[in-house]
Amino acid sequence: MTFPYTRMRRMRKNDFSRRLMREHRLTADDLIYPMFVIEGKQVREAVPSMPNIERVSIDILLEEAKEIVALGIPMIALFPVISGDKKSLDAKEAYNPNGLVQRAVKALKDAFPELGVLTDVALDPYTTHGQDGIIDDEGYVLNDITVETLVKQALSHAKAGADVVAPSDMMDGRIGEIRDELEAEGFINTLIMAYAAKYASAYYGPFRDAIGSSGNLGKGNKFTYQIDPANSNEAIREVMLDIDEGADMVMVKPGLPYLDIIRRVKTELEVPTFAYQVSGEYAMHMAAFQNGWLDKDSVILESLVAFKRAGADGILTYFAKDAARLLKG
Ligand code: PBG
Repeated sequence: MTFPYTRMRRMRKNDFSRRLMREHRLTADDLIYPMFVIEGKQVREAVPSMPNIERVSIDILLEEAKEIVALGIPMIALFPVISGDKKSLDAKEAYNPNGLVQRAVKALKDAFPELGVLTDVALDPYTTHGQDGIIDDEGYVLNDITVETLVKQALSHAKAGADVVAPSDMMDGRIGEIRDELEAEGFINTLIMAYAAKYASAYYGPFRDAIGSSGNLGKGNKFTYQIDPANSNEAIREVMLDIDEGADMVMVKPGLPYLDIIRRVKTELEVPTFAYQVSGEYAMHMAAFQNGWLDKDSVILESLVAFKRAGADGILTYFAKDAARLLKG
């Protein structure tokens, strides 16, 4: 009988040594909570494909923000639900200084100046067809005209007080154009988080239900601007371009199926890197939790620490409040 010279289990035996050798730690500081905002007063609307997630009016958003601050979550990401009559082909509601997002940002920054507010820069909530940009007669999303509108949208968010603008549209050259405009208008400290490596993913389905763009998008897809899930080098090039154009942070999206991309971005480019655990990942987890097939608390924490291990500096997740509560307790 020979004995294993290296017993890996020695370090695993006790809690003290497990804690000492732990490489990655998830804290509330790692979390960004995405929220859906809708017109009205005292509105809380359930999103059927996203249990426990609601579309809320600005007054409720402020109540929620109080809890989020108390939980130690540093930032929220805002997504608007725009009513049908405000959608158009040119998406001009996107840069209305009194639009829903702009008012929500102002209200949040007035009430909770210390809470970071990130806004989504893309036209899909505002277009009648649910595409992220302005289309031609064939339905093709036109790059340069769309960028002009995105620049106006980003500036209107900065003027409203957004700390971070996050272009999620995947048009070419938009980060540079937005950065130029922000500088020219004196918003030199507005941060840009580029959805740099954003894949053409079917995991966004529940989100499109939540903001009400899925009906408009119908059988349409976003293959002509979002990255093919089969590609990896392309994501690295996208991230390099966005950094060169002036992004402060980059994002990889979706999350768990794309941990390899997070690792490559972090290792090869060494920039602040964020991951988005998207709506479909949330829905899939919640379905298993509700059926009793997976243990909610432990799976939430395991799924989030996996992002840290892959190299993410932070995670946008619909589980942010649950995770922050678990980490507190
Ligand atoms: C829109 C946008 C999407 C998400 C964030 N911003 C959907 C899309 O590109 O169709 C997805 C977020 C999620 O699924 O949770 N530009």
